[in-house]
Amino acid sequence: MDYYTLGRSGLKVSRLALGTMTFGEDWGWGADEQVSRQIFDAYVEAGGNLFDTADLYTGGRSEEMLGRFVAEAGLRDAAVIATKFSFNAAPGNPNAGGNGRKNILRAVEGSLRRLGTDYIDLYILHAWDRLTPAEEVMRTLDDLVRAGKVRHIGLSNVPAWYAGRAQTLADLCHWEPVSALQLEYSLAERAVEDEYVDLGTRLGMGLMVWSPLASGLLSGKYRPGRDGGEGEGRLAALAGSGNPVFEKFTERNWRIVAELEAVAGELGRPMAQVAVNWVANRPGVATVLVGATKLHQLRDTLAALDFAIPAELAARLDAVSAPPLHYPYTFFSPAMQGMIAGGATVGDKPPAYLPDRTVAAGGVGVSVNAEEAE
Ligand SMILES: NC(=O)c1ccc[n+]([C@@H]2O[C@H](COP(=O)([O-])OP(=O)(O)OC[C@H]3O[C@@H](n4cnc5c(N)ncnc54)[C@H](OP(=O)(O)O)[C@@H]3O)[C@@H](O)[C@H]2O)c1
Repeated sequence: MDYYTLGRSGLKVSRLALGTMTFGEDWGWGADEQVSRQIFDAYVEAGGNLFDTADLYTGGRSEEMLGRFVAEAGLRDAAVIATKFSFNAAPGNPNAGGNGRKNILRAVEGSLRRLGTDYIDLYILHAWDRLTPAEEVMRTLDDLVRAGKVRHIGLSNVPAWYAGRAQTLADLCHWEPVSALQLEYSLAERAVEDEYVDLGTRLGMGLMVWSPLASGLLSGKYRPGRDGGEGEGRLAALAGSGNPVFEKFTERNWRIVAELEAVAGELGRPMAQVAVNWVANRPGVATVLVGATKLHQLRDTLAALDFAIPAELAARLDAVSAPPLHYPYTFFSPAMQGMIAGGATVGDKPPAYLPDRTVAAGGVGVSVNAEEAE
């Protein structure tokens, strides 16, 4: 497993991170403790060091299990533990959720207790609450870093303007900068390409990809059916839940699945591996969160970076999954830019302008290969 430094920080994280949203059966589509432990062990054996959880996941069970597994394996020093706050823990109390100082200070104590640790390596705002100013969030997170309870910070599911403002404030005020942007990104969900890739690479935040398989869709186990899709797994369990994250059975996505199946067939690789490989090698991506409910699923995805997708096959995946072009991004198309440049060819700096190893990491960090380092 290769490691990259996350964003502009000195924190070294493996290119595949372990998502633990499925640790615990409380939500009806996770894994029991025994299987979760096997998944944890297999990930550690493969050399992974980055574990992602949240206070929300399986009602706190995910944090509890992860903390126990890390402690029992004697890995607290080696493990990079990421957890998140934002979601409400006490219905009826608006200050037991959201991103205000009062909730962040409440939430961090709960996460530390469930994880059984005295510090969190990466503390992430889970979702924008549409209310709390970036100043309050960033100042509070900086206080937690100074207090030694948190090492690094990240943002998830926030508008790009908000993340840009937060990072600029951190730079100007000498607060702890944002090292990671945790966002949904896959062949089936490429909206982040409009804003967040440039945002992350230019302002020093590594993309931490969630749902690289679109909640299992890109493993190929679902087929179009009478009510949208057929197959067994999270997407079937949550069909009709009304949560847009899980509404993946669309005509566009079936076209993507069909092309992915064809490409994976030509490569002789499982579809899940090809899907994870594709997103892990997109510009700006620092790490990809892989999740599983069964050990064989994780073993499958852990081999996702052992091969390269040839350019012509990658181009087919790019083409079938190309996101629609929206205004104002239409103005950044080659045709419009040609009008701005007066017909001259004006490119960005050539790759050689940047140190090789930074280019390899999509400009978000430096690859630290364990073998090279020896
Ligand atoms: N910040 C956020 O808002 C946010 C949101 C979501 C997730 N996350 C993080 O990202 C992590 C990964 O997200 P995700 O679980 O949605 O990732 P994903 O890779 O899109 O989906 C993983 C799920 O797909 C199925 N699967 C995985 N490998 C498979 C294989 N080889 N063959 C068939 N099915 C397979 C399993 O579910 P089934 O067995 O049920 O089909 C597995 O739980 C989470 O654990 C969490 O840490 C963050």
